This record gives sequence, C-alpha cells and structure tokens, in this order.
Amino acid sequence: MQKMKAVQIAKAGGPFELVERAVPEPAAGQVRIRVRACGICHSDMLTKENLWPGIKYPRVPGHEVAGVIDALGPGVTNWRTGQNVGVGWHGGHCSHCARCRRGDFISCETLQVTGIHLDGGYEEFMLAPENAVAAVPEGISFEEAAPLMCAGITTYNSLRNSGARPGDLVAVQGVGGLGHLAIQFANKFGCRVAAVSRGSDSAALAAKLGAHHYIDTRAQNPAEELQKLGGARAILATAPSGKAMSALVSGLGADGKMMVIGASPEAIEVTPLQLIGGRKTIQGWPSGAPADSEDTLRFAVLSGVRPMIEKFPLERAAEAYERMMSGKAQFRVVLSTTGNTP
Ligand SMILES: NC(=O)c1ccc[n+]([C@@H]2O[C@H](COP(=O)([O-])OP(=O)(O)OC[C@H]3O[C@@H](n4cnc5c(N)ncnc54)[C@H](OP(=O)(O)O)[C@@H]3O)[C@@H](O)[C@H]2O)c1
Ligand SMILES: [Zn+2]
Repeated sequence: MQKMKAVQIAKAGGPFELVERAVPEPAAGQVRIRVRACGICHSDMLTKENLWPGIKYPRVPGHEVAGVIDALGPGVTNWRTGQNVGVGWHGGHCSHCARCRRGDFISCETLQVTGIHLDGGYEEFMLAPENAVAAVPEGISFEEAAPLMCAGITTYNSLRNSGARPGDLVAVQGVGGLGHLAIQFANKFGCRVAAVSRGSDSAALAAKLGAHHYIDTRAQNPAEELQKLGGARAILATAPSGKAMSALVSGLGADGKMMVIGASPEAIEVTPLQLIGGRKTIQGWPSGAPADSEDTLRFAVLSGVRPMIEKFPLERAAEAYERMMSGKAQFRVVLSTTGNTP
C-alpha cells in the first residue's frame, strides 16, 4: 500500500501532527488530487480549535488546495487524470436541496466544508467530491493558485457582488492574506482603494499592491478618514474582529455596503441611524462555489493579480500556521508538497 505524509489535528485544540497514512482511494463520485500546494487560511483555526459544528477528529485541515488529479473514483466523467485543479472551502454540495436546485451551491443545506467535514490539503494526496473541484488555468503556479481558492475567491466574489463600480471608493480592512488580494482586485476593477490597517508597517506594500490611500487605525479614525475621501461604496472587512468592523461602519458613503468577511464571535455594533440616511447595508459573504473559483483564477491570470507568498514545506505546517496567526506573514503562508511527492 502506498504511503503519504499528512498533517492532522488528532483532537479538538490539539497540535499539528505529522503522520504517515495510506494514500486514500477515491470512492464513487470522488477524485484524488496529488496536492502540490495548500495555503494556510486564518479559518484553519476553526479546525484546529474545534470552532465549527460537525468536525470529526483526526482531521487534516486546509481549504486552499492546488494540485493535479491523479485518480478518478467510479462514475466520475467530468474530470480526467493529469488536470490541474483546486479545491476551496466549498467541499461538495448535495445537488438536490432547494438551494442547490437554484444553483446556489455555497448555500447547500448539507454543504461539506473542506478541511472541516472532509480532510483538506495539509497532505500529499487528498480526496474531493467531483462537484467541489475547480479547473486551474495555464499561466499560474500551484503556489500562487492555492491562496486564490479561498483568500482570492472570497475577496473577488464579495467585491464583484458589493455594488462597487469603476471609480468608486473601496476600503479594504486588514492587510493580511485576504486583504492583500482584495487591494489588488479592487485596483484592477478600476476602483479607488483605501487600505485600512493597524500601524504603518504595511503602508509601502499596500501602495505597491494598488492602494491609493492608506489609513492607519492606530493613528487615525478610519471612519472619518473614509468620509474625507467621500465615503466608501464598499468596505471589504477582512479583520477577524467585530469591534474593528464597528469602527468602520460610519465610513460608508451613500448606498455603501460593508461586506463582512472576517470571522469573529464579537458583535458588530451599529445604530439604525448609522444606516438609514444613505441607505447603507451590512452583508455577510461566504467564499463561493467552484465556478466562482474558476472566475477568480481566470481574472487573476488576465489581470496579473497574484498572492504574495511565504513558502514552507508540508512538514513545517505547525510553524507555518503560527506564522500566519502572528499576523507578520507577507501575506499568505503556503505549504508546498512539490519536494515531497514520490
Ligand atoms: N467569509 C469567508 O468566506 C472567509 C474566507 C476566508 C477567511 N475568512 C476569515 O477572514 C479573516 C481573515 O483571514 P486571513 O486569512 O486574511 O487572516 P490573516 O492573514 O491573519 O489577516 C487578517 C488581518 O486582519 C487584521 N487583524 C487581525 N486581527 C485584528 C484585530 N483584532 N483588529 C483589527 N484588525 C485585525 C490584520 O491586518 P492589519 O495588520 O493590516 O491590521 C491581519 O493581517 C479570518 O477571520 C478568516 O477566518 C472568511
Ligand atoms: Zn479560508
């Protein structure tokens, strides 16, 4: 039996463990992916700390997967071996619930989440339902495609559904894994981009990524600064903090919309009066379905949007995760398995 390396969490709150496992065989409707790269998303903490319902341990985290299909389970007809593919948060839908019937696959009533309900990409070979897989186009490396499977799709998809149009002011809160891609996407969409960050450390890089304005929340009131710029048509709020989002609501302009992306158990505090005048809205946004991933990848190839990455080998996943959690990574930590495969 062929063996592989995997990095798992054995119990809720437990450490990352490097283990040897049998290379899994794809069941009916599944493909097996030889993982080449897997980004480390802040949401991997949900698996590590058991913060999402239904996690069964041991579990392999990772929902920013890029690799190559190397085996097909019975009945799979939409994919072939050798294809470059990616898998994101969306780990498969049922196809027959009311939401799936309307094509809203990310809202599937029994959505499978990669790295939560199914083992994810912190391993050399991974299984995925065929309807969770997105094709990776030519012109982008596995390491660059991987972060686009969650950080990329989430920011691209929320931005294109935010109502912001070319010339509008878009604020990006948090210059991290998601934020540094959001700045690039908003710039390429033709928007005026304000990066909102704690401290001045990211100012030069934010400008390089395409931010026209930089707001340091340690030195400035971010809502006032956004109002001085005319008020934001969209705020992509990626910071994992309800409190930090609350401080931005008054930075919305007329018809402005805050897209809530960062996951936090803290309340977002807002008064009705902050929203009524100017018809402002606050909306949550989950990543998207595989078709949205394909749109994201295509747009990235077309426009030159790429993640800035720090590469770690799979074996150093624990250190890589700590690096992401420290907030010091510039800007996405990616596990590479290219050097490991037999
Ligand atoms: N909705 C979705 O579908 C979806 C998808 C992916 C991720 N997420 C969530 O999105 C959030 C960001 O993920 P990520 O991978 O980009 O994380 P990340 O790389 O750690 O970046 C988060 C950034 O938010 C800012 N930040 C962190 N803590 C903060 C605080 N207490 N107050 C204010 N700002 C803070 C920091 O930026 P500065 O240093 O610039 O201030 C940090 O770089 C996480 O909560 C993650 O779970 C949601
Ligand atoms: Zn994610």
